[in-house]
Amino acid sequence: METIEFFYIKFFFSPSEALIPRLETENLVREAIKIIKDRHIETLIDVGTWTWIIPISIEKNTTTLKNIYWIDLSESALKIAQINKDSNTSKIELIKSNLLEEFLSWTTKLNWKNIIITANLPYIKDNDWENMWEDVKEEPIMALFWWPNTGFELYEKFFNQVIELKKMYSNKEFSLICEFWYDQSDLAHSFFVDKEIEFKLFSDLSWVMRFIYVQL
Ligand SMILES: C[S@@+](CC[C@H](N)C(=O)[O-])C[C@H]1O[C@@H](n2cnc3c(N)ncnc32)[C@H](O)[C@@H]1O
Repeated sequence: METIEFFYIKFFFSPSEALIPRLETENLVREAIKIIKDRHIETLIDVGTWTWIIPISIEKNTTTLKNIYWIDLSESALKIAQINKDSNTSKIELIKSNLLEEFLSWTTKLNWKNIIITANLPYIKDNDWENMWEDVKEEPIMALFWWPNTGFELYEKFFNQVIELKKMYSNKEFSLICEFWYDQSDLAHSFFVDKEIEFKLFSDLSWVMRFIYVQL
């Protein structure tokens, strides 16, 4: 097991089993911390996070969070998550789920106030895969995926689930922050414009628009 530093915190990961966390993702974390502080958010749902760098970094830099859910579909991810969970004190629940399916299937509603959902989902499309750096190709397929057309297919499914979740908890506020590939901001833009939902795109440190903040 190796360690890596992200947002000034040491995380465990196994290079053969885990996606190596990217520094760009610190932007997502920074924005989430700001929103949680501004809106006194108590519930964080982090979807598809593998080494759990996002929720741990957020939790360590905020004080209002009461419920934190770590979601992943991969067994290896959940195994590594457990190691990182054990080495950090927190009030966290690990859930194996296909995106937000578990939450949508629960008949008992949760006692949530306002909620933030963070996600850095796989977004690589078929054409991009061919040109990927060789070391990236060695990372777990499940963390990167490749999708037939835009690479944005999983995100579209996920955004629709978030909209469903908002319908279930219609009196709650949902903030959503996601990271995607540099050529997908137009797709994200069109998705939310079509649905008349408020959003803001923001850039990484190289001024590439690859994050979105949505308020529902
Ligand atoms: C790009 S990695 C992100 C890892 C980490 N969040 C980060 O920022 O470094 C994508 C993650 O999404 C997970 N994933 C892929 N498909 C999923 C699905 N349908 N439901 C839940 N998680 C999924 C993968 O297992 C992986 O952990």
